[in-house]
Amino acid sequence: MSELPPSSYQPKPYVGPSADEVLALRREHLNPAIFHYYKKPIMIVEGRGQYLYDENGRRYLDGFGGIVTVSVGHCHPAVVAAAQAQNDTLQHTTTIYLHPNIALYARDLAAKMPGELKVCYFVNSGSEANDLAITMARAYTGNYDVIALRNGYHGGSPGTMALTSHHTWKFNVPHSFGVQHALMPDTYRGPYGRDDGDAGQKYADDVKNLIQFGTSGQVGAFIAESIQGVGGTVVFPPSYLKNAYEHVRAAGGLCIADEVQAGFGRTGTHFWGFETQGVIPDIVTMAKGIGNGCPLAAVVTTPKIAKALTTRIHFNTFGGNPVVCAQGRAVLQVIERERLQENCLNVGGYLKSGLLKLAEKHALIGDVRGLGLMLGVELVKDRGTKVPAKDECAAVFEKCKDLGLLVGKGGLFGNTLRIKPPMCITRSDVDFLLSALNEALSAV
Ligand SMILES: Cc1ncc(COP(=O)(O)O)c(C=O)c1O
Repeated sequence: MSELPPSSYQPKPYVGPSADEVLALRREHLNPAIFHYYKKPIMIVEGRGQYLYDENGRRYLDGFGGIVTVSVGHCHPAVVAAAQAQNDTLQHTTTIYLHPNIALYARDLAAKMPGELKVCYFVNSGSEANDLAITMARAYTGNYDVIALRNGYHGGSPGTMALTSHHTWKFNVPHSFGVQHALMPDTYRGPYGRDDGDAGQKYADDVKNLIQFGTSGQVGAFIAESIQGVGGTVVFPPSYLKNAYEHVRAAGGLCIADEVQAGFGRTGTHFWGFETQGVIPDIVTMAKGIGNGCPLAAVVTTPKIAKALTTRIHFNTFGGNPVVCAQGRAVLQVIERERLQENCLNVGGYLKSGLLKLAEKHALIGDVRGLGLMLGVELVKDRGTKVPAKDECAAVFEKCKDLGLLVGKGGLFGNTLRIKPPMCITRSDVDFLLSALNEALSAV
């Protein structure tokens, strides 16, 4: 039986409504389209580091970090202290007055960026960040057409729903004006595999093709996640972005990297996912892990591109609020002080090699992929046909939860386990994770 590593933390006694009562309230008063994980949903009421606790005090290893959002660990004391101190002093004014937090935070964030990427816009969500990035690219270039990638996820606002490329997230309403999707550069399922040394260039040729056949020949922007997250942790072949960027820039467009999931050291080797592809984007969008759970997101670009948005006022009431900036700044400091990028590299490498060993044992595993602590395990019914093992994946997922391990699920067919824990997990946690996953796979 898989056992969680010991922990001395004692969760507080829970005194609120029961899980059944909360579920009933959700059904009565919340958006009926929201889904919950697990046949019988679990209620999580407390978190510390890499662990979550339900209302009965049961501990789980969080292998999904609140959908890749809790970057430095649940309720990290330094992050909590920074937010509490600011909450106690001044919560809100907007950018109509000066406040040090937004300026200091912008300076610190810009210091993490390569090249001329040094102007920050703060917003509240990844969708807003991507909407702003597209507006900015269109305003700067004077071009309208946008190229995104199939299997990508960029948000749920009307603008970003257009960029997103999974039918499951697109409502049957008018959207996608001026947005087209190029081939997903997936070396597991796509036409060019990992044995093809030119796969990056070949997939990027489809971007060129789309520009020639689907647009006026002039484009506003190309947007891609640096690793496709919701799409099931799809890592692009080497030189894909480099080649794609060349085609886009030749057509007058700007290149946008969506770092909402892959940024902030998660890939282990680099602070930003795009660096693993050897490119420097024109605009970078970020959210989720940037704030360890607070509503903070950002767009970073060059002074020259930012100038394009000075013809009108860009204003965001909560964007860069003193509290979220204090929290975001503390997150950056913790990543550095606790060398969490290095932890992603070491512990992530250990986890990936363990997953590859599980793949030798369990034929259900079709593919293990990802970088650092952004990993995916795709389950298939047959390794030859690669038929997605959707039901089996759901069963493994459910069993993992019973064993005390929470992971995510993704890919168009919901057959990829997504493992993206807080970046502070340890080798002992990984031993537990692998043991639980092995047990779950054996049970299915
Ligand atoms: C890569 C990526 N971009 C953008 C978004 C949208 O972020 P938000 O949900 O904060 O609007 C997400 C959310 O999952 C994402 O994964």
